[in-house]
Amino acid sequence: MSEHDKLKELSLRHEQAETGGGAARRERERLAGKMSVRERIEFLLDDGSFEETDKFVTHRCNDFGMDAERVPGDGFVTGYGRIEGRVVFVFAQDFTVFGGSLSETNAAKIVKLMDTAMRVGAPIIGLNDSGGARIQEGVVSLAGYADIFLRNTLASGVIPQISAILGPCAGGAVYSPAITDFTLMTEKTSYMFVTGPDVIKTVTHEDVSKDTLGGAATHNEISGVAHFMAHDDAECLAMVRELLSFLPSNNLDDPPRKPCSDPADRADAALDSIIPAESNQPYDIKAVIARVVDDGYFFEVHEHFARNIVVGFARMSGRPVGIVANQPAHLAGVLDIDASVKGARFVRFCDAFNIPLITFEDVPGFLPGTQQEHGGIIRHGAKLLYAFAEATVPKMTVITRKAYGGAYCVMSSKHIRTDVNLAWPTAEIAVMGPEGAVNIVYKRELEAAVRRAEAVWPSGRPFTEAEKLTILAEVRKEKVDEFRDRFANPYVAAERGYVDAVIHPKETRRRLNTALDMLSGKRDKNPPKKHGNIPL
Ligand code: HXC
Repeated sequence: MSEHDKLKELSLRHEQAETGGGAARRERERLAGKMSVRERIEFLLDDGSFEETDKFVTHRCNDFGMDAERVPGDGFVTGYGRIEGRVVFVFAQDFTVFGGSLSETNAAKIVKLMDTAMRVGAPIIGLNDSGGARIQEGVVSLAGYADIFLRNTLASGVIPQISAILGPCAGGAVYSPAITDFTLMTEKTSYMFVTGPDVIKTVTHEDVSKDTLGGAATHNEISGVAHFMAHDDAECLAMVRELLSFLPSNNLDDPPRKPCSDPADRADAALDSIIPAESNQPYDIKAVIARVVDDGYFFEVHEHFARNIVVGFARMSGRPVGIVANQPAHLAGVLDIDASVKGARFVRFCDAFNIPLITFEDVPGFLPGTQQEHGGIIRHGAKLLYAFAEATVPKMTVITRKAYGGAYCVMSSKHIRTDVNLAWPTAEIAVMGPEGAVNIVYKRELEAAVRRAEAVWPSGRPFTEAEKLTILAEVRKEKVDEFRDRFANPYVAAERGYVDAVIHPKETRRRLNTALDMLSGKRDKNPPKKHGNIPL
């Protein structure tokens, strides 16, 4: 073969690989609102940075007439490139080739990529769009999945792993994204489920659409499986880039610091009046976060799930930080099962990747009730406690208002190794809220007050229930005020050093920035062990 023919053959092979499953199938995908597999990669990475690997790998299956159709690359595009100049590894499934299904050989491409990403210490991003295990290959395809699951697990906490779901992701295939750190889904075009609508109909006779069962809204709002929801591929891929801008490349690196023009000591007088006069009135904790962090920019994670707790990334003087905040504007900021699990997972991610944690606390306690108790609030609430206690990154807490009961201990209190605990003058730190506390602590006084009033009542008759309630309400109010003055303030805790300082709210940004500077060399570690036993 001449040099010329050799070059021609190479070009032909490239062309075949890039054609994927053919123009008709590509057009079907385009009409469904999806980018092609190569467009996705191009959109995701810095211009011209993609280096493809294993482009000419083909499947080895000769059953079911498969030998007649071998597309170079076998439906997965793999390789490495850069995002904001930093190396990342990418694999992308091409639905036009056997429905993006996973074969023995394309699974091996992913495995090779993951092994390299681990050695190099760079994030891995999966663009998922697949009908699952390649049915014609049987167990070798299942083996391919298991090989990937193992690597997902070993890479967890070592390199960031991000899963964008841009089409189907069904059956056992869902467990790879589930092990990764963040899952993003596109509206209308993506879905995830262990068993699809047809199987459900057969087994339980339940009628459900793909979207209701496992669409982006379902997994962002109800199950919490997904962390981000995007309108389309372009928005989803832009979110991946944005997310990575807060993360280090691996667990030994620090997160990337950006130049910052927002003054580190900027005071914000509006914070001094942001807490409503009445303790039971809501306010939006995201407004507090926005006034404290660099340029008011907060990149929220799990925005639509368990909205009574807010988690996400921001920067302080250019340094990425993880924010965890109770949200008084939703369910009064109470901690329930979903909020505990959401918070715990985020805290553990930040801790694994050297991202300092800032907690804004305004929590009335754990949500009472049979549903929560029977659902295991004890076990799930303990996850959040465990996560905060275990975390060794710099930890700072600002108590803006309520810090009641067990939730006070859990929300990054001083007692579980938080480095800097600040409180606003509006903080109320106590075993429980004044209303509940008075009913218990002053039970006898309340009953005695009714009897006293009856004794001096001229008619000499016992009070009606309505009269009793009026008297009780008056006495209770007096006692509630007394309790609030005595306990529901930050000073009892400050006198004991459980909060390091009671600060003017407007100074919060400056205080947190100086704390972060002070903590920049923090070294702390947990006792040697194989691993802890977080209550799962
Ligand atoms: C081989 C597959 C395939 C698969 C789809 N295709 N899934 N080929 N193995 N798993 C092929 C189809 O034959 C078709 O080929 C093309 O991809 C497009 O599929 P359509 O069905 O036409 O597309 P659509 O109508 O959009 O439906 C998409 C789908 C459906 C819902 C994903 O294809 C489907 O139900 N596929 C099977 C899903 C499944 O049960 N997978 C196994 C899950 S169990 P042509 O030639 O017509 O273009 C699993 C185990 C993992 O994955 C275990 C890990 C532990």
